[in-house]
Amino acid sequence: MTQSRDVVQMEHSWINARLATMTDAGLGLIDGGVVTARDGRIVYAGPANGAPAAAAAITDCGGRLITPGLIDCHTHLVHGGNRANEWAMRLEGASYEDIARAGGGIVSTMRATRAASETELVDSALPRLDALIAEGVTTIEIKSGYGLSTEDELKMLRAARTLSERRSVRVELTFLGAHALPPEYRHDSDAYIDLVVGEMIPAAAPLATAVDAFCEGIGFSPAQCSRVIEAAQTHGLAVKLHAEQLSALHGSALAARHGALSADHLEYATEDDVCAMAAAGTVAVLLPGAYYFMRETKLPPIAAMRRHGVKIALATDNNPGTSPTTSLLLMLNMGATLFGLTVVEALRGVTVNAAAALGLGDEIGTLDVGKACDLAIWDVIDPAELVYRIGFNPLHQRIKDGQ
Ligand code: NIG
Ligand code: FE
Repeated sequence: MTQSRDVVQMEHSWINARLATMTDAGLGLIDGGVVTARDGRIVYAGPANGAPAAAAAITDCGGRLITPGLIDCHTHLVHGGNRANEWAMRLEGASYEDIARAGGGIVSTMRATRAASETELVDSALPRLDALIAEGVTTIEIKSGYGLSTEDELKMLRAARTLSERRSVRVELTFLGAHALPPEYRHDSDAYIDLVVGEMIPAAAPLATAVDAFCEGIGFSPAQCSRVIEAAQTHGLAVKLHAEQLSALHGSALAARHGALSADHLEYATEDDVCAMAAAGTVAVLLPGAYYFMRETKLPPIAAMRRHGVKIALATDNNPGTSPTTSLLLMLNMGATLFGLTVVEALRGVTVNAAAALGLGDEIGTLDVGKACDLAIWDVIDPAELVYRIGFNPLHQRIKDGQ
């Protein structure tokens, strides 16, 4: 969803900066660079000697690094309660799947989310959003998926939309009704998919830009996910899929065959899945926070992704069950330490490739003329420092739409 915030009609230049434009295959570094914005859009990003005449307002960046504003392209930021108690049970030996099958897991967050008012959902999500914003995040995707009734799913989407009115951040809404089976449909998952397809997606379509589903043994089958995907496309919505997180059901290939923007998690994806994603241009969204918190040991097939030229994005997957983190900077480090991503891959994963995972490649993600002037200005010179540090935030300033 694009927020309609008033943009100051003025020109502003950030000078004497080290730009990481992300416009070519690497970081696109330019020393002594200038970014100029007019009416919230980039009108120049490049070396000082090609820059337009001095703008009305100028900020001297003192040699600091400027990257595009960071993009968290997969979150469940809006939810009721937390699951610290289940984490304690897991530390005593219970597995995530045991807890889910015993009525905990996603369904316990469903109960807390249903019990919360829309205002309570907004208020509880704001500190999490603020933590991301404090790290230079300018765009965030937020999924529904803990309401699991038409009314409660819409409540989540409206709460997520309200967040974009309460803060200067772009929020993209994804409908995830097929996240888990609500207890009232315990004996008939196809009937729940009938509801998702026949009632929820039409109701969510005016709010959301994409539809997601959890393709998994404890989620929904590939055949059920196909129905969800087809309904999404009938309503003109983009498609994403939680796929290959705990087992290989080939949801990622299914998503790719439907032209999905992204397939997410992917620890159990096969080379054939990766080939299907490459052929369709489906982005691989990797979620190292969930990998870490689940103590997963199966690595996503990164070498195959590289070989076949699949774009890789990184996101927090912020959620109360498998990734209770609000640090996208930590995901940069985990993407590198746990998954072996390079500095270039990690940083492109939270900028240009994250934009592609949201279908916003023309709008955000690089320092390019015509795009929204969303910037993160860092107190670092070497981009590797952003990936190297753990639990340290070197953000100097964050600019959203030129402000
Ligand atoms: O992305 N995999 C499914 N959904 C979330 C977990 C949700 C939960 O446990 O509450 C995920 O990991
Ligand atoms: Fe997720």
